[in-house]
Amino acid sequence: MTQNAVGVDFAQRLTENPTTAERRAAILEDPGFGNYFTDHTAVIDWSIDAEGRGGWHQARIEPYGPIAMDPAAAVLHYGQEIFEGLKAYRHADGSVWTFRAEANAHRFNRSAKRLALPELPPELFVESLRQLVSVDKEWVPSGEGEALYLRPFMIATEAFLGVRPAREVSYRVIASPAGNYFGGALKPVSIWLSEHFARAGHGGTGEAKCGGNYAASLAAQLEAEANGCKQVLFLDPFNDNAVEELGGMNIFFVFTDGRLVTPALNGNILHGVTRDSVLQLAADRGLTVEERKITIDEWRASVADGTLAEVFACGTAAVITPIGELKTADGSLVSPDAGPESVAMSIREQLLGIQTGTVEDLHGWLTRL
Ligand code: COI
Repeated sequence: MTQNAVGVDFAQRLTENPTTAERRAAILEDPGFGNYFTDHTAVIDWSIDAEGRGGWHQARIEPYGPIAMDPAAAVLHYGQEIFEGLKAYRHADGSVWTFRAEANAHRFNRSAKRLALPELPPELFVESLRQLVSVDKEWVPSGEGEALYLRPFMIATEAFLGVRPAREVSYRVIASPAGNYFGGALKPVSIWLSEHFARAGHGGTGEAKCGGNYAASLAAQLEAEANGCKQVLFLDPFNDNAVEELGGMNIFFVFTDGRLVTPALNGNILHGVTRDSVLQLAADRGLTVEERKITIDEWRASVADGTLAEVFACGTAAVITPIGELKTADGSLVSPDAGPESVAMSIREQLLGIQTGTVEDLHGWLTRL
């Protein structure tokens, strides 16, 4: 058992077959994204007792491995599931820090409410990350643009086929060393305009971080790949084809007059923690930031009249990735090349600097794990 600040005991059962130092070093040479997993996982279960009270129990660290689940578990049938994504960064003195974890904890609880799952106290969310990183800290990479990606998630484990919120749930955290989400060195990506599929609808689950939203993006992602693109851009066909977000990241536009524009949070769009940080860092440096509706027609017009300077994607996994081109069924919109002086690359450097401890953390965004 390990005691901690939130007063919850995490039982520890460590793996008998840890990854060898040689194998881990080989993985950390070029981790890519989402390919490899550390040796342990954090788990906390939740259930409803005979009096109808729900509670979290059996917090533990256990070896990473398959989850034994009843084939009737609700998550397998009705997709009652939510997740988060955040990272642990190694600083030059070897210490390990996470970035705005409380923001992820709060977003996790918003998603939980939407999917009728139990909320997890934010302190327990952060503690579960600390417990996992404390046993797997050798896995936190120190290379440029690399970090340990933490994936907390919650699944409905109750074996029951009626459609109602599950009474048994499991919260887990896994960790995966990560480099560039798109693989290889950072370079501008091409994205595909989805004209047949929408990602979200008003009153739906668009702003929740639930697996179903990502599953719903995959048919369009296949189209994107068939057209040589890495991500899909979704529009809202019931709102003048307003730009919403990409399959797995938010989107920003930089105009030549210094305005930075991103679609407003309208219930369909993920409340990105990186999105929010970019808005703050841009405002700090005097850019005019606008969260508003931006349509595909405005995008086209601003390319045509030369007022669009840059387009970029952002997210925990993507950090900030310039978008070089939007491909559509009838041609493509090319963005100017994002050099090191671009807004995208300069905010990316600042953000990574804060996260890795080389730039002052003026907003108090870091938490030591
Ligand atoms: C993230 O940026 O953390 C995401 O969740 C995006 C994607 C990998 C699903």
